[in-house]
Amino acid sequence: MLDTPSQRVEDVRLQSFSVAYEYPVVFTRDAFALGNRSLIDVLARREPHKRHRCLIFADQGVLTSLPDLSCQIENYAAAHAGRMDLVGPLVPVPGGEICKNDPDTTPRLLEALSRHAIDRHSYTIAIGGGAVLDAVGYASAIFHRGVRHIRFPTTVLAQDDSGVGVKNAVNQFGLKNLIGTFAPPWAIINDSVFIDALPPREKRAGMAEAIKVALIRDGRFFEWLESHADELIRFSRPHMDHLIKESAALHMRQIAHGGDPFEMGSARPLDFGHWSAHKLEQLTRNEVNHGEAVAIGIALDTRYSVLSGRLAAGEDERVARLLEQLGFSLWHDALEHADAHGHLLLLKGLSDFREHLGGELTVTLLAGIGKGLEVHEMDDRLISQSIDWLKQRK
Ligand SMILES: NC(=O)c1ccc[n+]([C@@H]2O[C@H](COP(=O)([O-])OP(=O)(O)OC[C@H]3O[C@@H](n4cnc5c(N)ncnc54)[C@H](O)[C@@H]3O)[C@@H](O)[C@H]2O)c1
Ligand SMILES: [Zn+2]
Repeated sequence: MLDTPSQRVEDVRLQSFSVAYEYPVVFTRDAFALGNRSLIDVLARREPHKRHRCLIFADQGVLTSLPDLSCQIENYAAAHAGRMDLVGPLVPVPGGEICKNDPDTTPRLLEALSRHAIDRHSYTIAIGGGAVLDAVGYASAIFHRGVRHIRFPTTVLAQDDSGVGVKNAVNQFGLKNLIGTFAPPWAIINDSVFIDALPPREKRAGMAEAIKVALIRDGRFFEWLESHADELIRFSRPHMDHLIKESAALHMRQIAHGGDPFEMGSARPLDFGHWSAHKLEQLTRNEVNHGEAVAIGIALDTRYSVLSGRLAAGEDERVARLLEQLGFSLWHDALEHADAHGHLLLLKGLSDFREHLGGELTVTLLAGIGKGLEVHEMDDRLISQSIDWLKQRK
């Protein structure tokens, strides 16, 4: 019997194209001093003679600790009026996770973009910690299907990790980062003045991400961190600058050359130490902040790497010592919280991780200092032993 045409004919045409992304990451100081051209240069990168329309959003925490900032920005825009057109007053955004949790944030940001007639050739500029950058980045990515977006990260974590990446997100239905996009920004300007204004706890937290990326990619950077722990614990400015630049460069290299910038596969090497960190943040209701939880997660997975025979004995001690020297505590009681059946709640972090990746678990462990290694399962017993090891350090 002959096939009917609809059964027989299959016409598949492969559509294929690639898009090259490029964005500058600028390191500077006093970006809004009148003579600093960092912002003007990135605005004018493609159209040097135009007057560029900009709407600026700023983290309320930053505005509180730098009360002159909005005035300074207005003066800067006035001094560069030939290139920069501030279309409205600076829009404050509540800082921290609140802005990602509040369902009104995105509509409110979109409304501001609409009211000021931001178009695909205008700029939105976000000044803030990782949370504000995520929320404003998300609104900018969906408004008109994406408008030009410039980030000014203001925390160590945002400058040395999240701010230089390509993701944004807000929280929804009680789930972190559930709604978001991959949207490479127009430019990133890392200004060290914002770092000076941070409370010590926030300065320290961001260092965990630098240690993380050193451990999976760059043993020499890890050795540098070890040999300058004394300066880092005092937040010496040149040493903080170096930590931020090196860590940002390693994160950028991973995104550009790791083969999966938009995370289509299952591996997330930059999430070393994060399966337990995310769970710990949740279990402690963010009493432990992200960087602090990552420090614990790094120590846990480093010890696990030794116990599972992948990493030389003693390297776990070395990593834990550096973290402790920098002032991180590697213990929280929530690490040993269990359900009614005696199962560790932390272990749910692994199944959450698997779910987020889409089925296949991929966790990065260490094969050496500076050498990440992907594995697809973890042994509950060895995880428990790693937790015991952390407890002994209390
Ligand atoms: N998009 C990504 O790829 C990515 C990656 C990692 C983390 N993140 C997100 O980043 C967020 C965490 O960001 P974070 O660690 O930067 O902290 P944060 O944005 O939560 O800010 C912490 C606090 O510091 C305040 N603050 C920020 N900068 C300040 C400054 N210079 N001076 C004084 N106070 C200041 C904020 O108002 C807030 O109260 C989380 O929501 C996390 O999910 C995103
Ligand atoms: Zn992180």
